[in-house]
Amino acid sequence: MSERFARVTACPDGPLIVRGDVEILGEDGQPLRNPRHTVALCRCGASAIKPWCDGTHKLTRFSTAPPPSE
Ligand code: FES
Repeated sequence: MSERFARVTACPDGPLIVRGDVEILGEDGQPLRNPRHTVALCRCGASAIKPWCDGTHKLTRFSTAPPPSE
C-alpha cells in the first residue's frame, strides 16, 4: 500500500477507518488532537466520543446495507 496518500476505508456496518497523515477538524473548525496514524470515525451517530468510533455501532446493530426495496 502506498503511503503517498491517506486512505479511507468504509467498514461494513461500522466506522470509516482513516489511515495516513490527515488533519481532522472538529465542529468548530479547529484541529482535533490525533496522535494516531490510523483512526476510526463514527458514521452511525451513536458514539459517545464523536467523531471517533467507540464501538457502539455493534450494540445498536448499525447497518450500512441499503434498505430492502418494496
Ligand atoms: S461507527 Fe462505531 S460507534 Fe458509530
